Amino acid sequence: MSAHENSTAPKPVISATGLFTPEDSISNRELVDSFNAFVERHNAAHADAIAAGEMEALTPSSVEFIEKASGIKSRHVMNKAPLIDPEIMEPRHEPRGNDELSLMAEIGVAAAREALEKAGRDPADVDAVLCAASNMQRPYPAMAIEIQQALGIDGFAFDMNVACSSATFGIQTAADYVRAGHAKSVLVVSPEITSGHLNWRDRDSHFIFGDVATAVLVEDASIAPPAHWEILGTRLKTVFSNNIRNNFGFLNRAEPETIGSDDKLFVQEGRKVFKEVVPMVAEMIVTEAQRLSIDPARLRRLWLHQANAGMNRLIAQRVLGQEASEDESPTVLDTYGNTSSAGSIIAFHLNHEDLEAGDTGLICSFGAGYSAGAVFVRRSA
Ligand code: COA
Repeated sequence: MSAHENSTAPKPVISATGLFTPEDSISNRELVDSFNAFVERHNAAHADAIAAGEMEALTPSSVEFIEKASGIKSRHVMNKAPLIDPEIMEPRHEPRGNDELSLMAEIGVAAAREALEKAGRDPADVDAVLCAASNMQRPYPAMAIEIQQALGIDGFAFDMNVACSSATFGIQTAADYVRAGHAKSVLVVSPEITSGHLNWRDRDSHFIFGDVATAVLVEDASIAPPAHWEILGTRLKTVFSNNIRNNFGFLNRAEPETIGSDDKLFVQEGRKVFKEVVPMVAEMIVTEAQRLSIDPARLRRLWLHQANAGMNRLIAQRVLGQEASEDESPTVLDTYGNTSSAGSIIAFHLNHEDLEAGDTGLICSFGAGYSAGAVFVRRSA
């Protein structure tokens, strides 16, 4: 009998999820008012250069554009005041010593605690922690190891960054550890402090992101609570592209006039991303569904990465063969914004309790790299 046919072979499932939502929230109105105040001050300060044609005037942003182009109405952030102060427009946080829990680890721990509590899991019985996220606070020591220590977990931990696809790549990695017998219980934590990597002075992207943290507890079915989600199959894909990029760090330092000072933060060619990522993701989902003998049209629910309402609509339509209802493809983008790798997990966390045993769904993320990850799941009980 092969390992696959052996009913006692480890079987990865999702035991529980957790979510941390920051208290602060910025509406489109507040965001645009602050951005436009900055534009007005900037243009007034450079009026002579603009009049002489030496500098281009900045253009104001608009609430209507943001909602129409992205579907976002507001976003949560860790500290609102400095972000919408036209004199600052950057995050400001009380500096913390190296012996204090870092901000990213703190919100990761909060989300992880909820997942552990829901699963009734003692942290001492968790074997590994993956911090799977885009917007890293530092290169090392790994935030995952800090989270591991704060939760009192024995075992191993590491960070992984596959941009917006980090959580699904993390789930597949955790599922593979369970299948291989390296671990029985793995926490995949995605703290996304996107506000630290967003250019709040860039009209094309200042509205996109929000802060949040999610956690997914991937375990062997033998120890999971009775109500869990079987992981039926996973598929990952990457194709190099510069259309979404962040050059954070000194290794990429160059004279501002040769590269431009803004590329140490998030930059993207939004339209190209839209056009190139939608077909790549839809095709990956359909191909993996075929491999698993799942009819994509019969998927009960899609928990998609929350990048942009239009992108999600198109992907869901291609997968289901018809326009998806809010019930079939729930949106959290309106109040959370794009929360990078955490988006599909928030959608799952907030919208799975009503499904029934045997219902099959898909968690899917996509983004910079390009990267895309699909996780097919079925409710157990
Ligand atoms: N307010 C008002 N107008 C704005 C604006 C703003 N904040 N930002 C851009 N515009 C204007 C532009 O000036 C342009 O005007 P023009 O047509 O007169 O030149 C017009 O709106 C279209 O700009 P564009 O940047 O092409 O907008 P878009 O319709 O493609 O929408 C995105 C922008 C980013 C919302 C959209 O491309 C998108 O969501 N792409 C998917 C990428 C994504 O979500 N990536 C995240 C990582 S997965």
